[in-house]
Amino acid sequence: MSTPSTPAQAWSGRFSEPVSERVKRYTASIPFDWRLAPFDIQGSLAHAAMLCEVGVLSAEDLADIRRGLGEILADFEAGRFTWNLDDEDIHFNIERALTRKVGDAGKRLHTGRSRNDQVATDVRLWLRDAIDRILALLRTAQAALLDLAERHADTVMPGFTHLQAAQPVTFGHHMMAWFEMLGRDHERLVDCRRRVNRLPLGAAALAGTSFPIDREFVARQLGFEGLCENSLDAVSDRDFAIEFLAAGALVMTHFSRMAEELVLWMTPRFGFIDLADRFCTGSSIMPQKKNPDVPELMRGKTGRMNGHLIALLTLMKGQPLAYNKDNQEDKVPLFDAVDTLVDTLAIFADMMGSHLDEATGERVYHVRVKAERMRQAAIEGYATATDLADYLVKKGLPFREAHEAVARAVRTAEQKGCDLADLPLPELQAFSPLVGEDVYQVLTLEGSLAQRTHLGGTAPVAVRAAVERARKRLG
Ligand code: ARG
Repeated sequence: MSTPSTPAQAWSGRFSEPVSERVKRYTASIPFDWRLAPFDIQGSLAHAAMLCEVGVLSAEDLADIRRGLGEILADFEAGRFTWNLDDEDIHFNIERALTRKVGDAGKRLHTGRSRNDQVATDVRLWLRDAIDRILALLRTAQAALLDLAERHADTVMPGFTHLQAAQPVTFGHHMMAWFEMLGRDHERLVDCRRRVNRLPLGAAALAGTSFPIDREFVARQLGFEGLCENSLDAVSDRDFAIEFLAAGALVMTHFSRMAEELVLWMTPRFGFIDLADRFCTGSSIMPQKKNPDVPELMRGKTGRMNGHLIALLTLMKGQPLAYNKDNQEDKVPLFDAVDTLVDTLAIFADMMGSHLDEATGERVYHVRVKAERMRQAAIEGYATATDLADYLVKKGLPFREAHEAVARAVRTAEQKGCDLADLPLPELQAFSPLVGEDVYQVLTLEGSLAQRTHLGGTAPVAVRAAVERARKRLG
């Protein structure tokens, strides 16, 4: 029952009729924003401490608020906190619970603030925490790739352009390419975090407040690096969330590309790798199947991340200053984006990682690299053709002519069904008299790799050096 002193909605004194059940459900955010609870409490504690500091709130009220919010946090952590749809969102739900516990002090907590600056603060605190978890997981995934790269610094595979075998590379080099992608993702998120980490609280509804608040005090309490400088912007800005989703969409784009390669490499046609069974599933009808479901879902979930980014961009594009209820719609995409990223990263790190087998004491890698198949594919793809052309250029032939001579050599090898290195010397000399005995050194896969020792090159020594530099960078 609602009475004038305890209306069903915290704002309902002005209204002559209650909202319909459907409107209540439509406008409520508590079914999803309950996740903000610990951050809402953290923000309220800082706000209350500041109100007391500037003399707006008594020390007794502050003590009551601290006790009440402490109990609510404990309830939340123990899964005992129950929310009520009538209380619309997490902010009202917590305020009401607090008032039930501590009485008037609970009703004083909202002095000098609005849910508008409150929710902007909560989302930033929540997202900052999420970014920190994602950054740590990115590093775990990178560490797994470094281990694989080091282990396979000498493992030859064909490098592809247009998905056609192009030149020999090492599997370690390929893993380091993935490592670099994730490194940029890390940088982007670190940068995004700086703009997330600013305090909106103090903007109140939109115009600031008549109370003598100390925003810097609150920022320090909450570990914010700075303040949102304009009250209108503070309550309406969701750039930080869009930026995060853009960075997240790129993370997923990278995972999608890596996943695509894993799927390809796992097909019997390629046969480059095998994935541990626990990342795969069988078919309900075809008993022979082992499907790479995990990488496929990583690729698939990228679509959902891109959708979240577009959802938030669209949400913002028509909004006049300052706060609009549209902003409540930022949460579902944001929450789901973080869940998707955290799960994808954790599973990827495990899938590319290893563990120590207790029984044998041996390290077991979850990706099984089939080096022989990779090697065979590099040979069949005439991957050293460019090396032969470079060889001729070094002997004085203009590059275009060398390219043509080698193209003819490849055609002959193809007709004979053999590798370039299998063509006898006189036959190779028919394509260019500059060919000498030493040609076979560059025609082998190892010969080709060994020449690319520069920074960023695929030679095993260059890959090992890259791993070492990366280890230093990660610390
Ligand atoms: N649940 C709201 C949100 O998520 C909180 C702010 C509501 N403010 C308001 N004036 N209706 O955005």
